[in-house]
Order: sequence, then C-alpha cells, then structure tokens
Amino acid sequence: MNGIHMKGGFLWGAASAAYQIEGAFDEDGKGWSIWDKFVRIPGKTFKGTNGNIAVDHYHRWKEDIALMAEMGLKAYRFSISWPRVLPEGSGVPNEKGIAFYSNIIDECLKNGITPMITLYHWDLPQALQDRYGGWESRQCADDFAAYAKLMFERFGDRVKHWITINEQNIFTKFGYVTAWHPPGKFNEKALWLQANHNVNLGHAKAVLAFHDIVPDGKIGVSFAYGPGYAFDCDPANVMACQDYNELENYWWLDVYCYGDYPKAGEAYYRKQGIMPDVSDEDRALLKAASKQLDFLGFNYYHSNVSEANPVDGATEFGHMNNSGEKGSDDVTGVPGLYKNPPNPYLRTTDWDWAIDPVGLTYACRVLTSRYHLPLVISENGLGAFDTLEDGRVHDSYRIGYLREHIEAIETAQEQGCNILAYCVWSFTDLLSWLNGYQKRYGLVYVDREEEEGGSLKRYKKDSFYWYRQVIQSNGSVL
Ligand code: BG6
Repeated sequence: MNGIHMKGGFLWGAASAAYQIEGAFDEDGKGWSIWDKFVRIPGKTFKGTNGNIAVDHYHRWKEDIALMAEMGLKAYRFSISWPRVLPEGSGVPNEKGIAFYSNIIDECLKNGITPMITLYHWDLPQALQDRYGGWESRQCADDFAAYAKLMFERFGDRVKHWITINEQNIFTKFGYVTAWHPPGKFNEKALWLQANHNVNLGHAKAVLAFHDIVPDGKIGVSFAYGPGYAFDCDPANVMACQDYNELENYWWLDVYCYGDYPKAGEAYYRKQGIMPDVSDEDRALLKAASKQLDFLGFNYYHSNVSEANPVDGATEFGHMNNSGEKGSDDVTGVPGLYKNPPNPYLRTTDWDWAIDPVGLTYACRVLTSRYHLPLVISENGLGAFDTLEDGRVHDSYRIGYLREHIEAIETAQEQGCNILAYCVWSFTDLLSWLNGYQKRYGLVYVDREEEEGGSLKRYKKDSFYWYRQVIQSNGSVL
C-alpha cells in the first residue's frame, strides 16, 4: 500500500514511562514514588500488579536500545523517575540514578536515536507526598522546577526535546476525584483543582527556566487529548460538547498555550465555590510560560461523544473496564453538564476505547487552529491481548490500527498542521497502570504475566518489522 511522505527530519518514535518499564524500584538509592506505595493497597490495580520489576528495563536498557536501533527508530520518548534522581524529591541528587539516564541518552545518540525526555510521568517522590501533600502544596511547583533545572543542567547538552508533564488531566482527576491513582482521594474537587493549579505553576516555572539552560532545545507538554463530538445536532448536546471541551480539554490546553483558564470553566467552578486561588502573579507566570512553549504534545487514543446529562445523570464514578472484558465500561459524565456515551459509528478495543483515526486528524486540526503551535503526537497505540506463537506475535490488528492513524497524520499534514513527531505507545510491552501486563501495547513482546516470574525475554512482534519499514520509507510504505 502506498503511504505518506512526512517532512524531512520527521521523528518516527516510540515511547515509554519509567514506572511502567524500569522495575528496580528500590535499587541503587532510588526513593519510593507514590506509585510504589499505591500499588500495595489491595484492590487498586488489576490483580495487584506493580512495577517492582516491570519489564526490567533498568537492567536491560542496552538490549532494548539495540532493538530500537535495529528498528531504525528516530526518536525515543522516555521519562525520568524523579525519585530515582532525587530520592527525597529535593536536595541531594542520587548520582547512580543520574548515571542510569545519562547512559541511556548516550546509547540513544550513539545509535542515531533522538532522546525525548518526559520529566513527570506520574511517579512523584513519596517523600514529597509525605512532607507536604505533594501537588496539594505550592512548594511542589518549586521542587518540580528545581528538579527540572537539575535535569536540564545534566542532560541539556545532549537532549534537545523535553516534555514537562504527562497527562495532567488524567493524573490529577484520577488522584483527587475518582481515587483510581495516588494519592487516592475521592471526590475532593476543590483539592483537585488546587493541586492541578500547582502543577500548572510547576510546569510554567520549568518552561521559564528551560531556554537559558538549553538555548537550542525545545520544550512542550503531553496532554491526553480526547476531542469531543456532539452526539447529534440537538442544541442541548452541542452545548454539552462545548462544556465537555471546555472542562476536559481547554481547562489545561488553554493554560499551556494561552496562560489562561477558559472563561466558562472558571465561571462554572466559581459558582461551585471550588475555583482555586489564582493570584495576579500566577496569571503573569502562566502567561509568560505560554509564550515560551515550543510545541504542543498530545497523546491520542480515542475521541469522545458528548451528550446532555441531567443533574441526576451519569457521574464521574462509573466502572472503568480494567479487565479487557468488552462492554464492561460504564457511561460517565458530569451531572447537569455532559456524559460520554459510546460512539455508535466506531469499533472499540477490548478495553472499550473507541478506534477513531479520523479523530486524530480532527485533533491535529483543532489544536493547530486554536493554538498555532507545532505538534508532537507523543503517544498513540493499541492496547490488546497478544499471543506468543513460536517466538512471534502476529499482531495484524495493531498494524492496522497504527497504519490508519499514521494515514490520519498525513491528512492533517496536508491540511496545514505542522507535526514534528509521532511516538507509538509503546516500544516494549509494559505495565499498564491499572490494567496489569495483559493489556499490551508494545512493538516488542516481553514474556511476563501479571504474576512475577516470566523470563522477561524480548520478542519482535510483526508490528516491529512493519514499523521498521514505515520508518525506512519515511512513511511511504504503510
Ligand atoms: C496514557 C499514559 O494514559 O496512556 C500511559 O501516558 C498509558 O502511561 C497509556 O499506559 C495507555 O493507557 P492504559 O491505561 O491503557 O495503560
């Protein structure tokens, strides 16, 4: 099949996150993260899975990067575990932790792979949670900025692509509203908005420190973007979609890109009495940082449908399909505003995520029109059950998914969007935070199950060979 030609220098990438791959959770001076503690609470993760060993990347990083080189990967997005480099969250760095990432960077560069660092992919140092409630305190924004500066100073000579925060919309809401993520607080909406504001401040401070330390670098964020479609043209549903976009998307995106919260969102939270304290100084800081953002990164998995939701309608607390039992997801929403029913036009994965490549073109178009920034698609992929047969995984379903989404990027590019990079989630199989190890995303299969004890051996899936050809042809062979 004839595919696309991306612009020269396009970064064909793959991604990972520290907690989901590294393991070695207490080795070489690493401090605990909030996830190390949370996974030990019974019932919080699928079959009690944890990242104690994960896929053992901490000990197998060289082998993993050799596989990336064999694939011809142009970019590798990975995250730094904050408590691995600063076990107490602030203060004295752990040089062994820093050396681990330094080696990864050097190995990537040696193999022609552009490293792209995410500073925060959810594993806050537990020490900071214990000391002052983590993101609930403004102090966390300062500690994050100090950590970011340390990383810029140590790695900025070699790493030119940086992402401050991964999916702030997910980890704050899951941490303070649904209690699905640490710190596991339930329906604490005022606290959620305050913690979220503090994350914004941390992001802004890091962005403002960046260009002085890495003058030739680029910095952005990774947002979990599920663009909203109105259920139909009933004005009530169109308005519900507007509310959805304002509260679930622009609440973050406008802050990153305009330095301002969306007006209707602010009005809504003020009316509820839960709008956080935002001083003039904060607003100036957010505004200044928005002007220094070099790209807008987003993770795209699916679009969402919005429909009007009565005051006694669907809530945020419905059941989430974490087992792969198709059809077990509840409709969720915000009472009085919107709910997100399934899209009758789309197929779904076993975890009930809509499969919508057009939504990726749509997402690129919306973001380009609204924010006028280059885009990085920092994650996109298919979570599926895979079977290892005679050392191979025939994941034609994953190839089909990726092909359609890459075609969608081409369309977006033709329509004027400036896309710098595309990262498949994920390079190797890894721990899916709440779904264990059976929800696999990797181009490389890792022999491990929910229980510890697999060989952890790596096997190239069919999608590995397919993506290698996509990269070699710069997207023209799909
Ligand atoms: C994003 C995260 O939410 O999507 C990843 O940045 C995550 O860390 C990925 O693994 C897929 O989500 P899930 O829940 O299927 O693992």
